[in-house]
Formats: sequence, C-alpha cells, structure tokens
Amino acid sequence: MDPKSIAITGASSGIGAALAHALAGPGRQLALIGRDTDRLESVAAACHEKGAQCLAASIDVRDGERLSAFLGEVDGKAPIDLLVVSAGILDGRHADQTVETGPAARRVLEVNLLSAIDTLHSVLPGMRRRRRGDIVLVASLASLNPLPDAPAYSASKAGLMSYGLALREAVAQEGIRVVVACPGFVSTGMADVHLGARPGEISADAAATLILRGLRDNSPLIGFPAVPFWFSRLSIVLPEWLRRRMTQDTRFHVG
Ligand SMILES: NC(=O)c1ccc[n+]([C@@H]2O[C@H](COP(=O)([O-])OP(=O)(O)OC[C@H]3O[C@@H](n4cnc5c(N)ncnc54)[C@H](OP(=O)(O)O)[C@@H]3O)[C@@H](O)[C@H]2O)c1
Repeated sequence: MDPKSIAITGASSGIGAALAHALAGPGRQLALIGRDTDRLESVAAACHEKGAQCLAASIDVRDGERLSAFLGEVDGKAPIDLLVVSAGILDGRHADQTVETGPAARRVLEVNLLSAIDTLHSVLPGMRRRRRGDIVLVASLASLNPLPDAPAYSASKAGLMSYGLALREAVAQEGIRVVVACPGFVSTGMADVHLGARPGEISADAAATLILRGLRDNSPLIGFPAVPFWFSRLSIVLPEWLRRRMTQDTRFHVG
C-alpha cells in the first residue's frame, strides 16, 4: 500500500486529520476537505512539513456539486488512489429532550450517509477505469449496536457500513478495495458533543494507526477496541432486553 494521491473528507480535525498526518510524506499529494479553513490550513501546513503536497478545500460535503467538481479536478491532475470518507457529525438527544428532533435526524443522515455516498461516487468512476483504488469509510461501533440517544447517527453509520460492505463485494473484481472502519470512542471534537461516559477511549492518532493497519490487511470491517467491537458484533443475536441492559451505562446526551 503506497498511495500517491489521497483525498480525505473530515480532514480538518480528529480522525481525518490524524489520517492525513499519518499518510503525509514525500511523493504524496493530499486533498484535504473540511469546512473550517483555519483548521484545514493548519493540518495542510503540518502535512506539508512532512514532505507532502497539499490542497485544502473548504467545502460542505452536502454541496455535492462543489465537492464533485473539486474531486474531479484533483483526480484529473493526480489520479486518486486512496479516498478516506471521515466527515461526520453527531447529534441526538439533548439534555432537555427524550428523543432527537426530526430536523436534527435529517441533518445527520445527510452528512453521515448521503453525502458520504455522493463523495465516493465522485471518485469511483476514475478508480474503476484505472482498475485500482482504495476507499475507507469511517462508520462507528454504533453501526452494529444502535444508540438510543442518537437514533439517526446509529442509522447513518449502519447504512454506511452496509453500503460499504455491499460495494466492497461489488467492485472487488475491478481492483478496488473498500474497507469500513468502526471506531469506538476516540478523543476528537466529537467527544465535546457526546456528554456521557466514554469507556475505552483512544487518541485520534491511535485510531488512525489501527485504520491504516486494517486497510493494509484489507480487513472488511476495522473495529476497535477489540472487546467492544466483538460485543457490538454479537449484540445482534442477544435478546433485546439483555443488549439494552449491557449498554445502559453508556447513555449520554449531546451538547
Ligand atoms: N470520535 C469518536 O468517538 C468517533 C467514534 C466513531 C466514529 N466516529 C466517526 O469518525 C468520523 C470523524 O469524526 P471525528 O471523531 O474525527 O470528529 P471531529 O473531530 O468532529 O471531525 C469531524 C470532521 O468532519 C467534518 N465535517 C463535519 N460536517 C461536515 C460537513 N457538512 N462538510 C464537510 N466536513 C464536515 C469536520 O469538518 P469541520 O469541523 O471543518 O466542519 C471535521 O473535519 C465521523 O464520521 C464520526 O462519526 C467518531
């Protein structure tokens, strides 16, 4: 695995920024996408210092036309051989609510699921033509074990995981690898929004290392930490009352 041209959404902070740092080096071009210009520029500067060429673009991933035009331009100059889709938001039940609102649910699904699918379809045709490319979709352990405090977030990540695993099989014969990362708690900006216990939390750098190791091994699902990952995978076969009881210590609200 030695990608030369890499595009990352959600590159302005957290896991996306940590992946950008980990992948930066001489001979590599990074296209970094986020919304916050200052944070994007500072990630680009740090990656540039490590020898990478960087293009930073402040784009809302819900603006499919702009995103697709930017990725098309990057792909035209330096064919993208690794796409990381990490842009995502967490919303859900606030302290004064029993359940999330409808508009919040729609926004989460738009950013985390629909825009993620749009993003990969901007890059997929080029990869298919070249019969080469890697795609990393950043989902969540919530893909496997739905969170009562964030139903739309859980649905968006379950949808992304399902889409990714289905796509993986569909394009495998064309030389394209799709992997789905399912992180547990990671210390990022998202941790400031998630107000509740965060057992087993790891750093964004550690998460990036595990994701890149999983990509190197072409693991379909890159889940971590190991114990919560396996609990989440098996939770689907547990009686619902038992699954709920085992997750009651991780109830939270968003802030
Ligand atoms: N942290 C965790 O515990 C955890 C656990 C499981 C999965 N994840 C997933 O990991 C991914 C990365 O999250 P993170 O933990 O690194 O959180 P983060 O630090 O908040 O990063 C989120 C990134 O997504 C970008 N983003 C959000 N909405 C966007 C939009 N509409 N258009 C463009 N960019 C947008 C943000 O850019 P701007 O700030 O510039 O807008 C930022 O770069 C997410 O998909 C998240 O669901 C996180």
